[in-house]
Amino acid sequence: RFRQNASSKNLPPMVPYSVPFVGSAVQFGLNPIEFLENAYEKYGPVFSMKMMGSVFTYVVGSDASALFFNSKNEDLNAEEIYGKLVTPVFGKGVAYDVPNSIFLEQKKMFKTGLNVSDFKRHVPLLIAETVKYFERWGDEGERNLFEAMAELIVLTASRCLQGEEIREVLNEEVAQLYSDLDGGFSHEAWLLPAWLPLPSFRRRDAAQKRIKEIFFNAIQKRRTSGRHAEDILQTLIEATYKDGRHLTDDEISGMLIGLLMAGQHTSSTTGSWLGFFLAKDQALQAALVDEQKHICGEPYREVTFEAIRDMSLLDRCVKETLRLRPPIMTMMRMVKTEQEVKGYVIPPGHQICVSPPVNQRVKDTWESPNTFDPDRYLNPDTTSDTKFSYVPFGAGRHRCIGEQFAYVQIKTIWAVLLQKYEFDLVDGYFPETNFATMIHTPKNPIIRYKLRQN
Ligand code: HEM
Repeated sequence: RFRQNASSKNLPPMVPYSVPFVGSAVQFGLNPIEFLENAYEKYGPVFSMKMMGSVFTYVVGSDASALFFNSKNEDLNAEEIYGKLVTPVFGKGVAYDVPNSIFLEQKKMFKTGLNVSDFKRHVPLLIAETVKYFERWGDEGERNLFEAMAELIVLTASRCLQGEEIREVLNEEVAQLYSDLDGGFSHEAWLLPAWLPLPSFRRRDAAQKRIKEIFFNAIQKRRTSGRHAEDILQTLIEATYKDGRHLTDDEISGMLIGLLMAGQHTSSTTGSWLGFFLAKDQALQAALVDEQKHICGEPYREVTFEAIRDMSLLDRCVKETLRLRPPIMTMMRMVKTEQEVKGYVIPPGHQICVSPPVNQRVKDTWESPNTFDPDRYLNPDTTSDTKFSYVPFGAGRHRCIGEQFAYVQIKTIWAVLLQKYEFDLVDGYFPETNFATMIHTPKNPIIRYKLRQN
């Protein structure tokens, strides 16, 4: 008989702020992870903060995050948050521009094109692209690792995920178009109205249009050639929705752009951070080379998918890199229906968030949380297997479909690099984190290298 109104309910504690509207944006922007860790310590696993007029409610740790990952899209909605950023880049008809049930079907189609037999085909392609790319590094020197990873991953992802016709047209023009499209993933695109005539918005939209034309041609080439290739392009051409409808060329090209973009920064930052963790630790590099020799035999040039899969130390190094430097620092949903968690009520209109780097370093779950220790996964007692305390790829209905491909890609690139070079930090500098970009990249990412002697 008695209905409380939202204001009298137990809302999560609000991190105090002094500037109206702007809220905590400035403090948060300086170091979001530290900000969230402090708030967690002070307020516990559920708290809200204000930024640019919106309320963001974080659920921290495995227990509280369960609400987020187990939710239905009608209750906690993704497209309302991500659509504005993603749709102008991928184009219409895919991902967050369609009802989630359709996007789930599209994700299923991708999955069919990303299985073990595909990875077996990918490994030699990845090796060839990596060997060729790093010829330009010569025998020794100091170079920007992040730049190299970003360029290499466009090439490898395009070759493996988009098919030959598209990799063939990946020239400087297309690389520039990707970079313009990528400029669409910015804080300004996130925060400012879409109709503003900003140069970066215009470049993004022009690139979207031009890339679609190029992709249409490539798809047409495949359709008319009658060639049957074993790749994702073929999978998408043949795929049907549950109602029997085939994908249009527009949807296929949107999905191909999406595949490339989803894996681009995520994999290139992970590949770079991994490089710096390895450069810091010569003994770990030596152990990884030993592992490779042991698995591949000597001489150990021949690296296959099976060999990559069996490199378990390398695997744990990637896993630990993704714990300490997960590229996606916050996942978000719009709250559509009232939610209850840990005694608090989260009302519609809040944006609910989970932060992988925070969950993955919660002190009461992780031992020595700030130490890079790939061997922590050997001993299940010292790590938490609580379900949502390790979520670099998310969980639930929005979970990543690219995890296995990303592992194969990053591991293969580093297996090749470790065969060729020994790495070192430049004068002991381990890169700080650049929090200004949406994905937290390494600052001044220069690495030192010389040909491996043994
Ligand atoms: C979703 C991380 C690579 C395609 C996600 C999510 C995360 C993530 C955290 C969940 C987002 C959310 O719940 O809001 C990563 C990381 C990667 C990576 C850390 C590499 C190290 C890739 C690659 C692809 C890909 C290579 C494509 C081949 C996708 C797709 C989704 C997704 C399609 C689904 C989004 C949704 O359903 O809303 N990824 N990803 N990702 N990722 Fe990845």
